[in-house]
This record gives sequence, structure tokens and C-alpha cells, in this order.
Amino acid sequence: MIILKKMLFVWGLFLGLVVTLQDCAPEKPDLIKVAQISDNEYDPEVWGRVYPLNYESWQQTKRPKPVDKSRYRRGWDEDRIVYDRLSEFPFAALLYNGWGFGIEYNEPRGHHYAVIDQIEIDPSRTSPGGVCLACKTPYHKEFTDKYGMDYLKAPFMEAVNMLPEKHRELGPACIDCHQGSTMEIRTHKDHLERGLALLGKTELSHLDKRNLVCAQCHITYYVPRDNNRKVAGDVQLPWTNSRWGSIPIENIIEDLLSDENRIEWVQSVTGFPLPYIRHPEFELFSNGSVHWQAGVSCTDCHMPYYRVGANKISDHDVTSPLKADMRACRQCHTESANWLEKQLFHIQDRTVSALNRAGYATATTAKLFERLHMEQKNGLNLDENLYRRAVDLYKQAFLRVVFIAAENSSGFHNPAEAGRVLTDAVAFAGRSEALLRQLLASGGIHLPEKIDLELQKYLNQRGGKGLNFKADQQFKDPFGIQEIFSEIPLKNK
Ligand code: HEC
Ligand code: HEC
Ligand code: HEC
Ligand code: HEC
Repeated sequence: MIILKKMLFVWGLFLGLVVTLQDCAPEKPDLIKVAQISDNEYDPEVWGRVYPLNYESWQQTKRPKPVDKSRYRRGWDEDRIVYDRLSEFPFAALLYNGWGFGIEYNEPRGHHYAVIDQIEIDPSRTSPGGVCLACKTPYHKEFTDKYGMDYLKAPFMEAVNMLPEKHRELGPACIDCHQGSTMEIRTHKDHLERGLALLGKTELSHLDKRNLVCAQCHITYYVPRDNNRKVAGDVQLPWTNSRWGSIPIENIIEDLLSDENRIEWVQSVTGFPLPYIRHPEFELFSNGSVHWQAGVSCTDCHMPYYRVGANKISDHDVTSPLKADMRACRQCHTESANWLEKQLFHIQDRTVSALNRAGYATATTAKLFERLHMEQKNGLNLDENLYRRAVDLYKQAFLRVVFIAAENSSGFHNPAEAGRVLTDAVAFAGRSEALLRQLLASGGIHLPEKIDLELQKYLNQRGGKGLNFKADQQFKDPFGIQEIFSEIPLKNK
């Protein structure tokens, strides 16, 4: 590929042409417009009458995908198994214990299920109410404008029932990504507008839009809270001090820790009130990844062009490129699907290994805080400064672990950055652990090298559904290194 591009470049110079990446991407489909759609048309069926091929393709997100194609993003495959992220990464059950994410947390399904999955999940996950529909229903903007806090704060099912009956379960729809009258791609979420304003981004190119239609939802956000930790408004993006092409984890953490209203829950093990990070695909990808720098967009990889009869359209069955036979990659790369898959797994295996290290190191530190807090109750006196430093370091580790664990590409979107963030997480957790051991030792308490994480306690009998650990779903360290450091649960309950 690189050689090919260099050759093209040399030829380009020779011929006096400027060769860009677009040259290796296929030509855009022609848009055949047979009728006009109004700008406030929500109903995909109506759009479908004008654009039947795109409509049919969009409907395919309902269909389960082939089994055994993806290594780390299983879920909603033809085996119909719901994959449990807390069984995949058992340390997460300990770290997230204290609210909904520690009870039920599943691998995503297709866009068709966005609202349906919210209705079906343990209700602790949707306890904030209507505001949870921000990245799900196309009506969120209109309803926030019209009904404000009455909608945002309404108990979740009441908010769903406020939506037009026919579309209560409608997920990402045509109107979210297209301007009906022109069919231009555009965005339809106020939180993204506010986020872009924080970045100082005003001009949007076509390429920017091919990323931003996805960044409407595949970004991290917080639900602002009042003093009683109740919902205080629509979702916000923690993008203060960041800029287009650089929203690093450091800035996200600084933003999230800068104000009490971003604190969303209390971690059981440590008792710490904490913020949280959700699916930061756009943030990780856009932070200088090779593909971002090369002008490749989310849409290129997740909505590749394909031919239906005489027409060529963008695949609206948005899914993992692995589950679509690497068609997307081969629009640009001349290598075989097999070779590309190997590269992809090579990256993901390494990320998953490092995520294990960072996750268990952070969970171990959390357990030491639990012990220390217990000893404090029994009268142990602490050096306040050391203790506060240990807390700060711990939060830095925790939020880095969540950042990569919640990002849905297992490192592929930006391998080097994912590696950097996880390495730092290990260092923060390790330093915090050292301080905690020092604090405990000064009170005459000496702990063994391996700390019992009591993972079974967090993994089993979760929520109303009584969810249990599923050993066969666990992503153990592919290089076997983690076993040197911690005990990992291996048995089904
Ligand atoms: C309006 C919000 C929204 C928009 C816009 C959106 N997504 Fe999603 N996406 C979601 C939600 C929510 C899920 C999880 C659905 C579930 O699990 O029920 C999801 C799931 C996915 C999945 C997993 C699908 C699978 O088969 O497992 C991929 C891949 C994805 N989105 C990529 C994209 C890309 C690429 C774009 C832009 C072209 C995009 N999304 C735009 C909300 C959105
Ligand atoms: C260069 C190609 C490429 C680009 C660009 C890209 N992705 Fe991905 N994405 C992938 C691959 C590969 C995976 C891993 C799929 C797997 O492991 O099954 C992935 C995984 C995902 C997933 C999880 C899929 C699942 O089935 O659970 C989501 C969601 C996602 N990407 C969204 C995005 C968004 C949003 C953007 C833009 C901000 C983006 N991607 C940019 C290639 C890409
Ligand atoms: C998650 C965002 C998203 C949703 C939802 C979506 N589209 Fe698209 N659509 C795109 C993107 C991105 C393109 C590529 C356009 C470009 O680059 O100019 C596209 C392209 C198109 C095109 C131009 C031809 C082509 O295939 O490239 C048509 C027509 C279209 N979409 C119709 C629809 C219809 C009808 C629906 C609803 C049933 C829909 N889209 C839903 C993002 C979306
Ligand atoms: C729109 C074009 C485009 C698409 C689609 C695309 N790539 Fe790339 N990819 C590039 C360019 C350009 C580079 C930069 C290096 C080069 O010129 O080869 C690159 C670099 C890479 C690299 C080496 C750098 C790194 O980050 O490790 C890998 C591996 C790779 N791509 C895999 C994939 C896979 C897998 C997919 C599909 C999921 C994919 N690419 C989709 C254009 C693309």
C-alpha cells in the first residue's frame, strides 16, 4: 500500500497531478433524486419510498451478523448470544460496582436495537430518565426544545411513551444524518453543537461531516447533576480545552474532575464519587491516528460503497468491518482480507493484553482503598497528604481504564494512543498502590503481594435478572502475562 502510494505520488509529480488518498478510494455513488423529502420528516418509511435501496440497507442493522468473524466485538451475531462485558473483563465488575454499568453491560447490537436495548436492560442503567434517549431517538432534539426538563427528567419509560407511538422504538434514523430537502449529510444533536463550540470548530468540510454524523453518538458525554445527583440538563461533552483533531484523555479527565456537576455515581469498593466515560470512538480515533491523518472517516470503514444491480450505494447496515468481510478496508488497501484481518487482530490482541494489565492494577488499588478505609474506621491514623495523592493517582488510572474499555474498537481506531493511555493507567495505579501500602505499613499492616479481588462477589447475582459470570466469554490476556500478577476467575457460577 505504502509502496503503491509512493509510486502514485511519483507518477503524480511526473504528470503534474496532485495525488491524494481519494484516488485510491472508489468513486462516490450518484444520487438519483426522484422526489423531495421535507426537512422534518422523521418516518424512514417515507424516505424509503424515495430511496428504497438505502432504506433496505438501513433496515439490515436488525439482522444478526455471522458468528466467529470478530474476535473482540462479538454480540448480536447469528448465535444470538448476548455478550456480557463484565464477564469479558471481570475487573470491570469490581470497578463499576455501585451503579447500572456494574449490573448489566452488554456488547452493542445494530442500530435497529438502540432504543429496544434500553427498554430491555436492567432499569438501573436508564435511571436518569428521558435524558438517556439523547443518543437513541431521533426526536431528542425536538423534545428537549419543546418539553425541556419535563422530558429530560421523566422516568425513562414515561419519556419513551411521550414519543410518537409509531416511533417509540426508532433508533438512529435518516433524519439524524441527512437534510431531507437536499440529502446532504448533517448532524441533528444539540450536544454535538455545544461540543464543537468548545473545540472552536465552525467550518465543516464534507470529510468532517462523514465523521461527525457518527460522532453525534459515538462520543463520551456526561449527564449533568444537581446537588442531589439528580439530572440537571441535557448531556454535555467534556471537551473543554481541546481542539479539533486532539481531544486527549488528559483534557477529558481534567474537564470531568473540574466540577461537582459531572460526578455521576459512587464507586462501592472505594466509596469515591466519580465521573464516567462512555464510548469515546470519535475522541480516540481523531486524536492523530494514522487513518485520521490520512483523511479516512468512520463512514469509509463502517459504511463502504457497494453495488446493488446497476446502482452503487453506501452500506447503511453499519457494523464491524470484520462482519462485512473487510470489504471496507479493501476499498483502499490492496492487501488480501486475510492479511488485513491479521493486522487488525495483531493490534487488538495487544490492546486487550494491556487493558487486562491496567484493569487489574486499578482493581487491586481499589481493593487496597477498601482495606485502608476499613482500618481508618478502626482508628488507623493517616498522612493526609499521602492519602490525597493516592486518591488523585487512582482516579487518573480509573478513568484511563474506562476510556479504553468503553471505546468499542479494542484499540484499532488508534493503536498507538490506546497503548499510551493504558501504559499510563498502569503507572498511575502502581504508584497509588505503592502509597497505599506505605500508608498501611506505617500502621503496622502488611499485605501479601497478591490481593484477593473477591471478583465472584461482583460478578454474580447481578440485578433483577440475577446475571452471573460466564467464563467462556472472558477475554484473558492473549499473551498470558496477566496470570503472573493476579488471580483471574475461571469458573462459571
Ligand atoms: C443517534 C445515535 C447514533 C448515531 C448517529 C450513530 N450511532 Fe452507531 N450506535 C448507536 C447505538 C446506541 C448503538 C448500540 C445499539 C445497541 O446495542 O442497541 C450503536 C452501535 C453501533 C455499532 C455496532 C453495531 C454492531 O453490529 O454491533 C457500530 C459499528 C456503529 N454503531 C457505528 C456507527 C457509525 C460508523 C456511525 C456513523 C455512520 C454511527 N454508528 C452513528 C448510536 C448511534
Ligand atoms: C480505518 C477503519 C476504521 C475507521 C476510520 C473507524 N473504524 Fe470503527 N472500527 C473499525 C474496526 C476494524 C473495528 C473493530 C471491529 C471488530 O473488532 O469486530 C471498529 C469498531 C467499531 C465499533 C464497535 C463495533 C462493534 O461491532 O461492536 C464502533 C461502534 C465503531 N468502530 C465506530 C466508529 C466511529 C464512530 C468511527 C469514527 C469516529 C470509526 N469507527 C472509525 C474500523 C474503523
Ligand atoms: C448514521 C447516519 C446515517 C443514517 C441513519 C442514514 N444515512 Fe444515508 N448516508 C449516510 C452517509 C454518511 C452517507 C454518505 C454520504 C456522503 O458522503 O455524502 C449516506 C448516503 C446516503 C445516500 C446517497 C447515496 C449513497 O448511498 O451514498 C442516500 C440516498 C441515503 N444515504 C439515504 C438514507 C436513507 C433513506 C436513510 C434512512 C432509511 C439513511 N440514509 C440513513 C449516513 C446515514
Ligand atoms: C479510505 C481508505 C482506507 C480505508 C477504508 C482503510 N484504510 Fe487502512 N490505511 C489507509 C491509509 C492511507 C493508511 C496510511 C498508510 C499507507 O499509506 O498505507 C492506512 C494504514 C493502515 C494500517 C497501518 C497503520 C496502522 O494504523 O497500523 C493498517 C494496519 C490498516 N490501514 C488497516 C486497515 C483496515 C483493517 C481497514 C478496514 C477496517 C482499513 N485499513 C481501512 C487507508 C485506508
